Amino acid sequence: MTRSWTNPLRDPRDKRLPRIAGPSSLVIFGVTGDLSRKKLMPAIYDLAHRGLLPPGFSLIGFARREWENQDFGEVVHDAVAEHARTPFRESVWNRLAEGIRFVQGTFDDDDAFDRLAQTVHDLDAERGTGGNTAFYLSIPPWAFPIVTKQLSRSGLADCDEDTWRRVVIEKPFGHDLASAQELNSVVNHVFPEESVFRIDHYLGKETVQNIMALRFANQLFEPLWNAHYVDHVQITMAEDIGLGGRAAYYDGIGAARDVIQNHLLQLLALTAMEEPVSFEPGALRAEKVKVLGATKPVGPFDETTAAGQYSGGWQGGKKVPGLAQEAGFRKESTTETYAAVTLEVQNRRWAGVPFYLRTGKRLGRRVTEIAVVFKRAPHLPFDSTSTEELGENALVIRVQPDEGVTMRFGSKVPGTTMEVRDVTMDFGYGHSFTESSPEAYERLILDVLLGEPSLFPVNEEVELSWKILDPILEHWAERGSPELYAPGSWGPPSADHVLERTGRNWRRP
Ligand code: BG6
Repeated sequence: MTRSWTNPLRDPRDKRLPRIAGPSSLVIFGVTGDLSRKKLMPAIYDLAHRGLLPPGFSLIGFARREWENQDFGEVVHDAVAEHARTPFRESVWNRLAEGIRFVQGTFDDDDAFDRLAQTVHDLDAERGTGGNTAFYLSIPPWAFPIVTKQLSRSGLADCDEDTWRRVVIEKPFGHDLASAQELNSVVNHVFPEESVFRIDHYLGKETVQNIMALRFANQLFEPLWNAHYVDHVQITMAEDIGLGGRAAYYDGIGAARDVIQNHLLQLLALTAMEEPVSFEPGALRAEKVKVLGATKPVGPFDETTAAGQYSGGWQGGKKVPGLAQEAGFRKESTTETYAAVTLEVQNRRWAGVPFYLRTGKRLGRRVTEIAVVFKRAPHLPFDSTSTEELGENALVIRVQPDEGVTMRFGSKVPGTTMEVRDVTMDFGYGHSFTESSPEAYERLILDVLLGEPSLFPVNEEVELSWKILDPILEHWAERGSPELYAPGSWGPPSADHVLERTGRNWRRP
């Protein structure tokens, strides 16, 4: 198939040299959407600012709006000025702006796609994009069939052995296993699996990639990383924001499909998988597929799962609407904005260890973390009053914010008595490294242009994730409305019961 571009001056053993994308262009569909403005365009600028894009790099927007190249250029400019991570530099911007084009049209407009093909072709001739193009589909799944068909019809999906075509797709990859399979087959009909890059932006986060370094570069943790020592694992993704403005996407989707099916199950896979034989993409995916294949939901779902919807009330001193009052949501919407599930990884390493996953909007604060909670010491040779304040040992991977890792263990309180209390030992990125972490989308867009697929879930991972979640979603659908919870709280009362029924408690992150 495609020959990948290699820089002849570069020695792959030299870690000081950044990887720079080869000649290429990027077409974004859905360019007027939030994701494009807040994440994609700023990430492209950040890559340019870091010198990681090739000199002739070109960005083409495709949308319905009646814009000229210039109008689109302004939109990109404003998005970059507002959301880019790195400082705005006129010289970087001017260079990037030279390669910005806009093609106006709708998805069913053959003419527009022919013009798009011509634009891609012209840019190649003018700016030397090497005939290599990535298509970013930041569009709803109903539009996938028509857009992929148009790319095929207009010849845009074709390449020869010296060039490449890649397609980047954003979630949701369907709403259950059956629809995901259908979607995958639509995409694979035009683009072979090795040129499909499915975005799970959590995998682009530094702290998420660090899970592998923590586990496999150290001797300290691995011996304890199993059912002999681990009592349970809690994976939390909490957000304090509500869903104003996102009804079109979120109503009918809900928290479990929005983030558990992808982000949280990927965090579980990285936490629970076996050591890959190497970090080659195939080897890494093989381990993730194995562990996801062994992961099953634990019932009875009325007791082991919880679904909630935020009500109106006060949060952080401000009056906020409930989901049903947010613009665009149906008043009778049964969409859950909080979801908690209990899973089990059925293999020797994890037999009997519950993995609790929870996520929610309008919770107490924004935090994503993985807490590996250890069993208590088998014997405590102290008076029972000495260890009253002693909890369980825990290793907490703080994905965001305050990126880092915390270890919690017991320590003697200074004084004449043997009183033992929990203390923490902390690693923070901010203290240990001088360089700030790139945004997830910077890393992922660069990897697409480089043709580096390690951080992108394959078909099989997506389908296995739906298999885990489908029975729970079906159960919730039969049960009707989710329980209400107050904004700023940590979810509905039934969420506490999910852990309390086995004598455990959610951490207060
Ligand atoms: C997206 C979800 O995938 O992740 C959003 O669709 C959510 O609902 C977002 O807000 C959170 O991303 P992050 O990187 O801020 O944790």
